[in-house]
Amino acid sequence: MSKIVFLSDLHLSPTHGFFWPNFLTARAAADAAGAEAVVVCGDLCINGPDSDDEMTFAARALASFATPVLALPGNHDVGDEPPGQDPEQIIDGPRLARWDAAFGADRFVRDIGAWRLIGVNAQLFGSGLVREWEQDDWLASCLAGAADRRIALVLHKPLFIETADEGPANASSLTPAPRAKLLALLQAHGVAMVISGHLHARRDRVVAGLRHLWLPAIAFLGSASHGGVPGVDAVVMDFSGSEVVVEPLPMPRLEQHDLAALKQHGRYKFLRDMPPCPPEVT
Ligand SMILES: [Fe+2]
Ligand SMILES: [Fe+2]
Repeated sequence: MSKIVFLSDLHLSPTHGFFWPNFLTARAAADAAGAEAVVVCGDLCINGPDSDDEMTFAARALASFATPVLALPGNHDVGDEPPGQDPEQIIDGPRLARWDAAFGADRFVRDIGAWRLIGVNAQLFGSGLVREWEQDDWLASCLAGAADRRIALVLHKPLFIETADEGPANASSLTPAPRAKLLALLQAHGVAMVISGHLHARRDRVVAGLRHLWLPAIAFLGSASHGGVPGVDAVVMDFSGSEVVVEPLPMPRLEQHDLAALKQHGRYKFLRDMPPCPPEVT
């Protein structure tokens, strides 16, 4: 068994339960998939950067899986690296501490089949925090220790949208300077694949010898303006061979939520601003 289920962008909350039914469907499917682990690729919360309750709620939700879960943070969990989507929610020490208290770690390394999977905290790249340098060192040692395994990097944000040299800095992908540094490191170690969430869209393509796989979301459809195909779904990947086989996670069709419609076409700027509508948690 060399399979891992990948879920991304759950956007759970004890006060705003829009996406809870999709989560329950995906959890049941993940439990039934016969996978070695479930990776959750960031954005577990809606307002994680400012809510202890939301982080606790997400941690409890992930603890309810039958399969071991490896969770990575996204911008809606620990905040964004500058310049960020929301200047009020930039990653900092207290926000990382909130994540640590709920999940223990914001990175992982796991060997499976022919592969080494290395999960990192995407929000640290360009943050200037001490933990960014600690993570850089840790990543370099994980890459160096992969021996003859193929390597996949897993993180919340894609490295870039269309091209490795694009700019200026924005909240859709890693920002240009840390991206260039990371790409050079990945190339030096022959990394074969990068798996990311964040854009709520599917895309699977090879750029300069590196396969970039974008994951669909559990919560709502992304924008079509980013080149991928907006998607609400999940996948299961088989790491037994030299190429990763990606299949849809077998499950009933999830509700294909449209974010603009949910926010009543501009009436609310953020989901967290909306009137409470708690999930039905049994
Ligand atoms: Fe998201
Ligand atoms: Fe995100």
